[in-house]
Amino acid sequence: MESNDWYLATKQLLSHLQRSGITRLPKAHQPLPDAVAAWGQRESSALSTHPIPNASLEVQGKSTLVGQLAPAISTPQQKNTEASNSASPPRSLGDPSSVPVTTGHARPAPVPAMAQVPAFSHSSALEDTKAWARPRGTDEERTESLRILAEDVKACRKCSEIVCRRQQTVFGIGPHNVRFVMFGEAPGAEEDRTGEPFVGPAGQLLDKILVATGLKRDEVYIMNTLKCRPPNNRTPTEAEVENCRPFFESQIEILQPEYIICWGSVASRALLKTTESIGRLRGRFYRYKQAKVLVTYHPSYLLRNPDAKRQTWEDMKFLMRDMGTLK
Ligand code: URA
Repeated sequence: MESNDWYLATKQLLSHLQRSGITRLPKAHQPLPDAVAAWGQRESSALSTHPIPNASLEVQGKSTLVGQLAPAISTPQQKNTEASNSASPPRSLGDPSSVPVTTGHARPAPVPAMAQVPAFSHSSALEDTKAWARPRGTDEERTESLRILAEDVKACRKCSEIVCRRQQTVFGIGPHNVRFVMFGEAPGAEEDRTGEPFVGPAGQLLDKILVATGLKRDEVYIMNTLKCRPPNNRTPTEAEVENCRPFFESQIEILQPEYIICWGSVASRALLKTTESIGRLRGRFYRYKQAKVLVTYHPSYLLRNPDAKRQTWEDMKFLMRDMGTLK
């Protein structure tokens, strides 16, 4: 079913609830904030413009959990709902089955079973997920380590097809004492020209998403899987990702962030060593070393598929809840 169909179906469901005398809209259908509306949300406000009389709806937990993905980290909130949601496939906000409602008696919507997803190789690497241990070493030491690593990146000539066409390498940008790493795919034309990641159209959308999430660009570290632009912005090959692996893994090792947001499938597959799609991966945390990893759609994909912005906004709210900035 197309997401617009889900939207219409959801609207019908809400009209039905309204006629049945149910007042409060489920949280999942509250309007998006202005900042998010600005990055492309369309009709959601229509869902909340009609006050509905009497009674209350509850959303039971998170609607976008991916089932059976070991070794995911769950928020306490999520743990409580995981048992009933663990087999559910990712669902969009527009999916009526993602609105398990109750007027006092819990009655979760039936969810289809989902195939097992292979475990990831980093499962045992996490020792302490409870609190963000600030990175070891001083800011100066991290800065020096990153400087040396960036020199190594500049000198790298492993990907023969790329190296002769790149204008420069694009290492990463941001403070060296950060909680958040934004992990993208590879530089595009604008990034290749300026040497800075996410400065083209995708970067502008990323900035808006960050603002809506309450994060400033200069508070996060932004980096890519590949440090050079693939010709014509083609998808990086597996060999190219493996050539760059020592660089991005070392970069993250030095930064030791609390959260890593993987934008798109190249980044998430590279970091989590899985072949699963974003649709299957999003909606929960994974662990990579000390970090919680959240996977969502790439801003370039969102520019081509604006309907998916709603799911990415769900992912950002999931992040904000874990950060304690969204109740
Ligand atoms: N620009 C980047 O720096 N990375 C991407 O993944 C896309 C655009």
